[in-house]
Amino acid sequence: RTQTHKPFSVRSQAAPVLSQDELKKLAADKAVESVKSGMILGLGTGSTAAFVVDKLGQLLSTGQLSNIIGIPTSKRTQEQAASLNIPLSTLDSHPHIDLAIDGADEVDPNLDLVKGRGGALLREKMVEAASSSFIVVADDSKLVSGLGGSGLAMPVEVVQFCWKYNLVRLQGLFKELGCEAKLRVDGSEKPYVTDNGNYIVDLYFQNPIKDGFGAGKEISALEGVVEHGLFLGMATSVIIAGKTGVEIMNK
Ligand code: 5RP
Repeated sequence: RTQTHKPFSVRSQAAPVLSQDELKKLAADKAVESVKSGMILGLGTGSTAAFVVDKLGQLLSTGQLSNIIGIPTSKRTQEQAASLNIPLSTLDSHPHIDLAIDGADEVDPNLDLVKGRGGALLREKMVEAASSSFIVVADDSKLVSGLGGSGLAMPVEVVQFCWKYNLVRLQGLFKELGCEAKLRVDGSEKPYVTDNGNYIVDLYFQNPIKDGFGAGKEISALEGVVEHGLFLGMATSVIIAGKTGVEIMNK
């Protein structure tokens, strides 16, 4: 059930080497092919999702799409979509979303994900959980054999109150995976504050998480944890762009 689409005609002997942004755009454009006029759409956050929003704006402006309503997953995406005249609404007004398209930080072979390095995990999870379909778009650098295995951050959104207490508790949960927990900071070394007014504790693992569902449950059970970046069983398909083309992995 995995399909591969070559990005370029086989006539050219040496396929051009695409930049990471070009790969992201390729995946984004492929995903937007699933968008139909009249849909309620979940709009993701991040550099790959931004290509999706750009493409939607372009198709709306040329009349190739009409009557779509976007539900943004962050203030950033809201601003981008508004600047492209994409009609926007909220989950309160549209609790059932037809299709969400978003990027990911890690994608494992079961289509389970780590998300939230862009800080939008809470709204992303709420919007994507309310969507009938959820397409993930990414370049092939996001593929991992086990979640947490990239050595990069697995984010957890926590309330500001006694964040250090929760940082220590989160690190303690995953001692055997060599977990190091760090408070996320912004460019001025001040705590990074999410769109929801919370902090983010980033978890760095030396070894991949074996039981994602168990880990998610343990994290969520900590009082003061708002949401975690494990998106398990949520993606209906993943579109990955790499040197050999665009691969579509379906559930
Ligand atoms: C934001 C996210 C993003 O989807 C994720 O970080 C991927 O971003 P990018 O497409 O820029 O690599 O989860 O919270």
